Amino acid sequence: MSGLLLASRTPASWAPSVAGELGALLSDHAHCELKAAASAMTLLRRHGARAGLVARLTPLVREELDHFQRVLRELAARGESLRPDRPSPYTRGLLAAAGEPRRRADGYLGALLVAALIEMRSHERFTRLLEDYIRLCPEQYWWIHQRFKGRPAPLPDLYAAARPAP
Ligand SMILES: [Fe+2]
Repeated sequence: MSGLLLASRTPASWAPSVAGELGALLSDHAHCELKAAASAMTLLRRHGARAGLVARLTPLVREELDHFQRVLRELAARGESLRPDRPSPYTRGLLAAAGEPRRRADGYLGALLVAALIEMRSHERFTRLLEDYIRLCPEQYWWIHQRFKGRPAPLPDLYAAARPAP
């Protein structure tokens, strides 16, 4: 838990309004992944001398670019392609409220907070979409949940190290 809270929730009407626009939604998400990588690179450029930052952010840049490629593949699988990026009033508002941290040498904390809030909003919205899809056919969700809640041997348990000792 980050301790940060979103000041408002996405209206329940949002998910149905975008559900029929999967190409636009995926394209927008592809740009979000690309911007996440770009933001991490900007942090590295401006604050890379901070202890541990290069070691933490370099894999993040790769991961976000991998996400970008995955979303592009999803678009292609649906016969869609990347659309032009659209300005985000939400992001613009956050950056303005934080005093445009990307443009300031002392904007490290502000840039991290803006990035965290953007990730939280994205997570909230995808959760809302997922919940709406689950409600359409909950038995399929339960099947998938049962199927993927663990990994059959000999695949390693990816979450073993994260679990507290009994
Ligand atoms: Fe990502």
